[in-house]
Amino acid sequence: MEIIVALDVDNIFQAEAFVDLLKEKVKIFKIGSKLFTSEGPNTIEMINKKGCNVFLDLKYCDIPSVISSAVKIAGEKNVFAVSVHISGGKEMLEKCVCLKNRPLLWGISVLTSLDENNLKEIGVFRKIDEQVETLAKIAKEVGLDGVVCSPREIGIVKKIGGLQIIVPGIRLTEETDDQKRTLSPKKAKEKGADYIVVGRPIIQAENPLTIVETILKECSPQF
Ligand code: C5P
Repeated sequence: MEIIVALDVDNIFQAEAFVDLLKEKVKIFKIGSKLFTSEGPNTIEMINKKGCNVFLDLKYCDIPSVISSAVKIAGEKNVFAVSVHISGGKEMLEKCVCLKNRPLLWGISVLTSLDENNLKEIGVFRKIDEQVETLAKIAKEVGLDGVVCSPREIGIVKKIGGLQIIVPGIRLTEETDDQKRTLSPKKAKEKGADYIVVGRPIIQAENPLTIVETILKECSPQF
């Protein structure tokens, strides 16, 4: 299992400081809406130049031609993986899958910040598990490389098989914030996550490197 650090910071200088500090231990950094809106594609180049990989987490969801063009451009910029909303529909996903030299395509299932009440508010009256299963089956059918889900749904995606499992909502303590379906790194690993995405527990820590080392130690086989 690998750690992806979510660089949800204000600017490229802060992002670069985290990459420099952590790059011996962390090989994939995530650029999300916040950093990308603030600094744009320069952030991709900065991370690649330091020998690390980029997960561009812009959670693409739009008409098929627009999203497949965006994914193609991400490939030209040497992005390692991008996220696309599985709920954007099969046609949008298929148009991305068939691109040559594309990044890995990781499908967003249900955001880890949502619970069943939030789903009801948007007209989804099923259990989260069922919704994740339906979306993960679509991901498999169209040929996505992986699915992003909460730690609690890893088993559902594992059962479908043939998909990388990318897991945000990782917490080292019992604290709760806007992430509602959380689990510890060790438990996520035991359940079968291939990648964990960790943001605030690392980037808001007094000593981010120590937190990364703690996670790696906790997840090593001898621990
Ligand atoms: O700070 P925290 O560890 O909660 O960050 C989790 C990261 O994972 C955020 O950058 C968020 O955008 C991302 N993410 C998520 N839920 C998803 C997909 C991505 O929280 N379903």
